[in-house]
Amino acid sequence: MTDIRFHLGWFMNFTPDEWREPFGQGGLPWDGKFYMEMARTLERACFDYIMIEDKLMVPETFGGSTELSLTHAMMVPKHDPAPLAVAMGMATTRLGVVATLSTLAYPPFLLARLCSTIDSLTSGRFGWNIVTSAEDLAAQNFGLDRLPPRDLRYAMADEYMEVVNELFASWDRDAVVLDRAAGIYADHEKVRPINHKGEFFSVRGPLNTVPSPQHRPVYVQAGGSPRGRDFAARHADSIISVASGVESMKTFRDDIRARAVAAGRDPDSIKVLFCVTPVLGETADEAREKQRRMVSAPHFINDILGSISAITEIDFARFDLDQPLPGYLKTNGEQGSLDKFQQWGSGKTLRELVVGGAGGLVSSVELVGTPDDVAERMGAVMAEVGGDGFLITTPVLRVSRRTIIEVADGLVPALQRRGLVRTG
Ligand SMILES: Cc1cc2nc3c(=O)[nH]c(=O)nc-3n(C[C@H](O)[C@H](O)[C@H](O)COP(=O)(O)O)c2cc1C
Repeated sequence: MTDIRFHLGWFMNFTPDEWREPFGQGGLPWDGKFYMEMARTLERACFDYIMIEDKLMVPETFGGSTELSLTHAMMVPKHDPAPLAVAMGMATTRLGVVATLSTLAYPPFLLARLCSTIDSLTSGRFGWNIVTSAEDLAAQNFGLDRLPPRDLRYAMADEYMEVVNELFASWDRDAVVLDRAAGIYADHEKVRPINHKGEFFSVRGPLNTVPSPQHRPVYVQAGGSPRGRDFAARHADSIISVASGVESMKTFRDDIRARAVAAGRDPDSIKVLFCVTPVLGETADEAREKQRRMVSAPHFINDILGSISAITEIDFARFDLDQPLPGYLKTNGEQGSLDKFQQWGSGKTLRELVVGGAGGLVSSVELVGTPDDVAERMGAVMAEVGGDGFLITTPVLRVSRRTIIEVADGLVPALQRRGLVRTG
């Protein structure tokens, strides 16, 4: 038993649920009710937040075609997270709701206005997962031929953050006076234009929404490269990461904290959450069998390769499954996820890379067992890493009611009994 308490978030893909499995529904009708129910369940389980992941394209890198993504519903369809965040927020009263919105896609004024509105609609429980987008295919939906190189994307994003922060501050907290007797709604001297003219953006302001309860959304970020980590350490309230084992979790968190100090911030103001994919069973054997079945499903290998192809824009269909990768792979997209996947130097074959970890891409440590086994391990891992929590996700980027219930009614109570997570 340890006295370290940690935070729980959920990494949620807004794609069809486990539609191929006996307990899935296929996401239809596409009315969001499944996710509203999920939000209520996670709130009951005292999660800090749910994060809705997003991408802005139909993947077609794997095999040079959309076939895999559409046939398997892999990373597509993917509906807009902003209205879903509103629906989830209005279906709950305490859970934080985080939507992914890309700085490539939204002009900063629209994004600030959208975030402010959702934060008001959710009574101050909205968060923004700041992404710069990482695919040429996404860039081509926004008037660009190619994605700008990583350093330029982050330079643009730094200025973007300056602009939205200025916009959020363009109304003083007490600007709305609502003085009926004097006939004053807002004090016009407490609302100012920002007149931002920078290298990439030109925005006059002020924002045209009233200040929301948090004034700005909680900032979530997942930068993996050194430049991305600097960006995250400068701006984020919560940083999400996929690491490879306890040592790499600790190294990542220590590095983020050092970068935060260098940027003049209190490192304790940043909560680093690590993605994990627990596989739970009534017995340890049952959990291991479940994992074995998952990774030996006929579609598993191509689903994982399809998703890594989509986020790196490297066609993994061209590599031999039973050979090591031909060389160290580089991408202008998600290099951190690629590095975690390719385990360069390990000598593993591509097949071994895919089936090696629980959930393929998305578990920082392997968590397979009964709720008590997994809770014990999570406590031990956090004690070594030093904080700040886990972002729970599901194998092959899918979810079902059953998986959510296993976590909410099995794993979380086991964590609570150990004093590891909040009980209210
Ligand atoms: C846990 C996690 C969640 C992420 N969610 C998204 C997402 O929803 N949409 C997206 O475009 N990128 C997402 N990314 C990618 C990051 O925003 C970023 O592009 C990636 O980590 C690479 O960082 P780098 O550019 O600093 O190497 C995610 C990354 C991680 C690790």
